[in-house]
Amino acid sequence: MDAEYAIECRGITKTFGTVKANDGIDLNARFGEILALLGENGSGKTTLMNILSGIYHPDSGSVHVSGKALHINSPSDAIGLGIGMIHQHFKLVEIMSAMDNIILGAKDKLQKPSSLKRKILDLCDLYGLKIDPEKKIYQMSVSERQTVEILKVLYRNARILILDEPTAVLTPQETTGLFLILRKMKEKGCCVIIITHKLNEVLEISDRVTILRKGKSVATVLTAETNEARLAESMVGRAVNLSIKRPLVERGKPALEVKNLTSLEPDGRKSLSNLNFTLYSGEMLGVAGIAGSGQKALCETLTGLSKAHAGEIAYEGVNCMGKSAAEISKLGVRLAFVPEDRLGMGLVGSMGIADNMLLKTYKSGKGAFINRKPAIRQAERIIESLDIQTPGVDAPIRMLSGGNIQKVLLGREIESRPKVLIVAYPVRGLDINTSYAIYDLLNEQKRNKTAIIFCGEDIDVLLEISDRIMVLSDGRITGIESAASLTKEDVGLMMAGMDFRDKVQA
Ligand SMILES: Nc1ncnc2c1ncn2[C@@H]1O[C@H](COP(=O)(O)OP(=O)(O)O)[C@@H](O)[C@H]1O
Ligand SMILES: [Mg+2]
Repeated sequence: MDAEYAIECRGITKTFGTVKANDGIDLNARFGEILALLGENGSGKTTLMNILSGIYHPDSGSVHVSGKALHINSPSDAIGLGIGMIHQHFKLVEIMSAMDNIILGAKDKLQKPSSLKRKILDLCDLYGLKIDPEKKIYQMSVSERQTVEILKVLYRNARILILDEPTAVLTPQETTGLFLILRKMKEKGCCVIIITHKLNEVLEISDRVTILRKGKSVATVLTAETNEARLAESMVGRAVNLSIKRPLVERGKPALEVKNLTSLEPDGRKSLSNLNFTLYSGEMLGVAGIAGSGQKALCETLTGLSKAHAGEIAYEGVNCMGKSAAEISKLGVRLAFVPEDRLGMGLVGSMGIADNMLLKTYKSGKGAFINRKPAIRQAERIIESLDIQTPGVDAPIRMLSGGNIQKVLLGREIESRPKVLIVAYPVRGLDINTSYAIYDLLNEQKRNKTAIIFCGEDIDVLLEISDRIMVLSDGRITGIESAASLTKEDVGLMMAGMDFRDKVQA
């Protein structure tokens, strides 16, 4: 008789130093099933999946594959057992092609390239994957890279697929594409375990959900018998209010006026094409668009990190066209930016919170000599007010969790009391509790009359939190409308390039 479960964990415990990352976890998943694994940041999801894929060994407990208790001593053991993991941070060789990455380290190296390529394309057909096997990794989008990672495990005949937060880096359209692939895998009898923080995704894709809290498995439920509120409650341990507020704030004076703004890529293509809009103080403007539609260029151009090619940018009437970030600050413009790349552009990972506070003062040219005291006080203030989990003001920031790092960055920017605050993907990769804390923070700034530009990827969130939504497609504005008047489908059409004003006028 076939074993009931493709994979089963019984009482898995794993300790790192003093941290019990996994504390007696039970979990099981069947072939032909999609299991979602849900839990706040730090609840032990990745650790458990790393145990299943042979990267870590449990201190105690057992792992059963198709009913047999086994020791998975290495990733190659796991692959031998048909277990493949798609990690949160991809492990591909940039300068190699997709095909070379897929076959790297696999056993059938000696076959002809043409037959290897055929095998890859056959797998693509079978699971509905789209990839050019010859394309180099560095030329690929995040979603294409993910496809290569998936192919890599399928190529090794994995039947148990583990995906660690695969949608955190995808646009809504790419997520839809990934879900089609996961359903195909399920249809073909694979066992899929997916980690995601987005409750709507859990409800959409999974058959069952296992919830971890503080290293323990607290519940396993049938997806059809649960809802977002119950999942959130079981994850956090108490009821969570899942509605995002949109406080009504009277629209103030123009905080930012953009006219005919055009900016160019290094290769001469237009990254922004003739943008016209006004942002008002006390307004939250949501910016939507599929990846590469111009949000990044917009943020960088508005903040002086990259130079605009033509047009006008004025903050409260101060002309900032062609000015660098430092020059904009010297002009007295109170502009703050929370970039997508928190540790690259925003903060220095090796430094503590206090020194990261100082960094902002230096950048704005205000720090003539070093006095750490105000920075330490500032750091203490934001640790307290934003409930940041850290050993202290001098603990290196890179040791903190993603959510805490984001709070440090936002906290620092808010400390400068900006008139205009630009945030790019502020909740990417963060769990629900932290995401809602960030939404509250932004709304509080709005109540203080700050004008906010919120570049986001979750259309539901943008529709709930924004006053107006601006949609970019291919560097152009395809619509700028009151959020309350739009549906998710409207936004999707504009993201795909349809000019909403044409539809409204037609
Ligand atoms: N290699 C490691 N060394 C020390 N602590 C770790 C290590 N991996 C994870 N942890 C800790 O174990 C806990 C669970 O982490 P993780 O499994 O990554 O959680 P999740 O994936 O649910 O966010 C966290 O407190 C984390 O800091
Ligand atoms: Mg994780």
